[in-house]
Amino acid sequence: MNERDSFSSKLGIIAAAAGSAIGLGNIWKFPYMAGENGGGAFIVVYLLATILIGYPLIYTEFAIGRNARSNALDAFSKVTKNKKFNIVGYLAVGTVFLVATFYAMIAGWVIYYFFLSLTGGLYDVQAGMNLPDHFTMVFDTMNTHVIWPLLGAIVAIASTGFINFSGIKDGVEKYSKILMPLLFVIFIVLIGYSTTLDGFKEAVTFLFKPDFSALTTRTVISAIGQAFFSLSLGMGLLATYGSYVPKSENIRTISRQVVIADTIIALFSGLLIFPAVFTYGGSPAAGPSLIFKALPQVFSQMPGGRWFGALFFLLVIVASVTSMISIFEIIITCLVEKMNFNRHKATLVVVAAVLVGTIINILGEGPWSSFTIGGMTIFGLLDYATNNITIPLTGALTAIVATWFWKYIKMEKELTSDGVYKSTAEGPFFFGLLKWVVPPMILVLILTSL
Ligand code: PHE
Repeated sequence: MNERDSFSSKLGIIAAAAGSAIGLGNIWKFPYMAGENGGGAFIVVYLLATILIGYPLIYTEFAIGRNARSNALDAFSKVTKNKKFNIVGYLAVGTVFLVATFYAMIAGWVIYYFFLSLTGGLYDVQAGMNLPDHFTMVFDTMNTHVIWPLLGAIVAIASTGFINFSGIKDGVEKYSKILMPLLFVIFIVLIGYSTTLDGFKEAVTFLFKPDFSALTTRTVISAIGQAFFSLSLGMGLLATYGSYVPKSENIRTISRQVVIADTIIALFSGLLIFPAVFTYGGSPAAGPSLIFKALPQVFSQMPGGRWFGALFFLLVIVASVTSMISIFEIIITCLVEKMNFNRHKATLVVVAAVLVGTIINILGEGPWSSFTIGGMTIFGLLDYATNNITIPLTGALTAIVATWFWKYIKMEKELTSDGVYKSTAEGPFFFGLLKWVVPPMILVLILTSL
């Protein structure tokens, strides 16, 4: 594998990058984080973090990747010609591996819910039980019966590995181009239905009327971490995909489109889930189980809901798999280039390692759930530590490396097509922000929120 694979078209790059960005982070994580952190105020911080920090950092990481033309572990040191900065790559790839282990578990839950909705079993409510209690019971039962989440996770991991086997052009790019538009269409249909629910207005108020008195440093760092997680930032993905982007593409344009698509889908997910919470009851702060408890209430009431439910979970599976492909790809590219593995061997190693990590998470939610650290299960701890510590930290380090150790003009040339320098109004603004404001702010937030 001396000849590096590459994306074949602009559309393909956008589909793959958006496919990576749009995933459980938008549909599963964003609503529950917003719900736990009081709604509107969290969303305002999230949007600011996305536009002011996420966007410039995306194109920065992308540019680093394209310039380095290497795996994420080496990209930062290659660009700056300073071996020390390997640390950023190792932090990023270490984080993404931890993310993979719980990501696959959640994807497994979704697969289980897909089948349960398809067969109708999800909606067999015992006489006398109210809907929130019923769906809480279904969720808890799933976790105690390790076998269902395990089978779900195996399906998720195996199908992802299958696509990675085929490489960038014929795997990642081909499938993303088909699956991402489909996701958009299904979303529109379901939101149309949500607008007819009684709780729709209350949901809109909850999501868009900020109560800033609820803001703490913890909320702020959570929102930043969530913005990065959702954009696949600070985990080596953009560095990796950037290394497969042809020189002719303008990285700023691509980054802008990814940010827009990702943000729309996150807000859509909020609009899909909260009307259900406010119409049928249940807590917006239910945590990671939110979409599994809230949405099925809608499906159980709407005509043909069982099929819509199945369609919805299918959509989430699609979104998760296009993200998991990208997560696997980061590590695969590292193994291929650092260890000289061929793509097939690298894929198998990643599949096996992620499976082991996932099983630990699954047990942690089931039989080992009384084992907690700081009140958190294994998955809770990984989710918290990556979201609030390592992801923002890698983002801050990326900003530092790019703005202090890589020349402005070199970065600007890497951002445009074919290395032609074009001056832009936003260039110096964001560069200044990433150089002077973002790193100290993130470091202070991480420390004070601990
Ligand atoms: N951004 C993806 C999501 O929102 C998750 C992801 C993380 C993808 C890291 C790639 C790398 O679900």
